[in-house]
Amino acid sequence: MRDEVLAFLRQNAGKFVSGQHMSEACKVTRTAIWKHIQNLRKQGYKIESFTKKGYRLLEEPDLLLPAAINKRLETKTFGREYHYFDQLPSSNKELRKLADAGAAEGAVVVTESQVSGHGRLNRGWYSPHAKGLWFSLLLRPSFVPQEAPKCTLMAAVALTKAFHELGLSEAGIKWPNDILVHGRKLVGILTEMNGSMEQIDYIIMGIGINTGSTKDEFPEDIREIATSFAMEGVDVDRCQALALILKHLEDQYQKVLKEGFASTLEEWKKLSVTINQDVEVRAPGNTYEGLALDLDQDGNLLVKTKTGQIERIVAGDVSIRPAKKK
Ligand code: BTN
Repeated sequence: MRDEVLAFLRQNAGKFVSGQHMSEACKVTRTAIWKHIQNLRKQGYKIESFTKKGYRLLEEPDLLLPAAINKRLETKTFGREYHYFDQLPSSNKELRKLADAGAAEGAVVVTESQVSGHGRLNRGWYSPHAKGLWFSLLLRPSFVPQEAPKCTLMAAVALTKAFHELGLSEAGIKWPNDILVHGRKLVGILTEMNGSMEQIDYIIMGIGINTGSTKDEFPEDIREIATSFAMEGVDVDRCQALALILKHLEDQYQKVLKEGFASTLEEWKKLSVTINQDVEVRAPGNTYEGLALDLDQDGNLLVKTKTGQIERIVAGDVSIRPAKKK
């Protein structure tokens, strides 16, 4: 029904269509038409309405429709199998179903909004309609499962490079997988693996990037810690951004497949806002305070604590402590 109303408005783009006319054509009440119009407005469609004239479509949101992405895509495989949804519970969940059914490496699930988007440590992920890039990418690498966590670092490198190209030159990586701008989180990456101890069946790389949300629109619990392209004053075309990001992800992945992870880890260090900072790391069962020294070759964080001990952190949440005044 929503699609019928939209098609009607599109056919008459720039012209007024009366509510009566649409209700007769769509065989629903005028109230139902009005509700659909309200819904479309919530999704970013600019629709003008006047009592005696009806409705007029002025502008459509920049939706991540397959045709719009396809014409910008410069990849060989990433995003060539493209599954697009207006709303999903979670793009990771959807891609898991496709992966189990045999989808190829590089397949992507993109959704305009998620109702139960999830993050690390069972946290939720705020995914409002057309205000971000919420997508999942399927990898089927031949390397051993122990290497899988490094895919998150690889994605963070690729994304940060893409953001610099899009004009967000302040974007930097916080270990292991957040991308920050001016200390606020712009991106979350959730990597999920399927396989056995010996072999990776597939990896799902779930990526959430805030593009259009304003500070007031973020839920209260993340309002002071989240940011978006809009909040950083960078106007972004989501289709162009997604195509560019997929290109960077593919290039970085190809590099890892050819050369291994070492050079990507070096790039990670250069793009990091964690190394050489005083940090607090809440790891499972322990909290460490100290100086973030380096990454080891497996991508673990090395923290030098006050006692001089060097701790190797495999998983945890890092807070970067403000620099002490001298
Ligand atoms: C985190 O920082 O905790 C990771 C957040 C990952 C969110 C993305 S949005 C697309 C994909 N689908 C999900 O349900 N989660 C990831």
